[in-house]
Amino acid sequence: MVSVKDFKDGLVTKDNLFAIVKDVSERESRNGSIYVVLTISDGKNDIQAKMWNKTGDELSKYVGKLACLHVEGGMYNGQLSFVAQTIRETTPNDGVRFEDFVPSAPIPSEDMYNYITNLFNAMKNESLKRIGLKLYEDNKEQLFIWPAASKMHHNIRGGLLYHTYRMVKSAEITVKAYKNTDPELVVAGAALHDIGKLWELKPTDGGYGEYTQDGILFGHIYLGTAAVEKCGNELGADKNTVKHLMHIIASHHGKLEYGAIAVPKTQEAYIVSELDMLDSQLYMYEKDEMEMKPGEFNYDRVKF
Ligand SMILES: [Fe+2]
Ligand SMILES: [Fe+2]
Repeated sequence: MVSVKDFKDGLVTKDNLFAIVKDVSERESRNGSIYVVLTISDGKNDIQAKMWNKTGDELSKYVGKLACLHVEGGMYNGQLSFVAQTIRETTPNDGVRFEDFVPSAPIPSEDMYNYITNLFNAMKNESLKRIGLKLYEDNKEQLFIWPAASKMHHNIRGGLLYHTYRMVKSAEITVKAYKNTDPELVVAGAALHDIGKLWELKPTDGGYGEYTQDGILFGHIYLGTAAVEKCGNELGADKNTVKHLMHIIASHHGKLEYGAIAVPKTQEAYIVSELDMLDSQLYMYEKDEMEMKPGEFNYDRVKF
């Protein structure tokens, strides 16, 4: 089966393909006839295909869906352009899965989830162990698919867990270098710092996040801090541990102007806030570099 990428690379000029319809927008040509531009995606690559004799209203039902299209490509004004001749919704008989067309974390969610919960399980601090396991187990299904953002970093299916997993891995190494910190609090803080995103965002069919009402009203920093407090109370956890963990979450954006409720006041909180910055920034570098060819550069990035 050919893919969006095959068309984008010019390897195929005429065939049926499956793709997610990301966007539909109606346009008017110079002679006044109406056409529609469809943005279709295989999860990594997008192309735009024109569809004649259709209106935006007729095609809007496909947005966010996996569709089967007949696409033809050709050179037009020196540029590769595409026309969709037909479009239909997919059926179970097509044997394609929606998940395979949504940008997803590169590591299976189950592996990342197990890695983090195993760390919680091995913790000596009973309060951290129980809070971590309860918040993870109660929200397991969501954690498997949740994105970390609507636009910026890790705005993919499983992105929240992927961002968290990479931070936890960094945290494990960092605490080996800074011996005067509480390693379990740093690891637990990294594992739970963005847990509030489970209530701040909800995933769209396309895999990225959309703000909830609570997300707009309170943001994930407050929501995560409050969730840890509630969980700690329910479990009768050690008050100081809960307070410190709450502070790590409350301060993980580092600066008040970045949305932090407080500036980090402990080494553990400071480490988590820096690791958060490190991972979110590196994600942007990685993403840009993936889209660049060796030797390519722009003002912000150089790909060797
Ligand atoms: Fe955050
Ligand atoms: Fe984060």
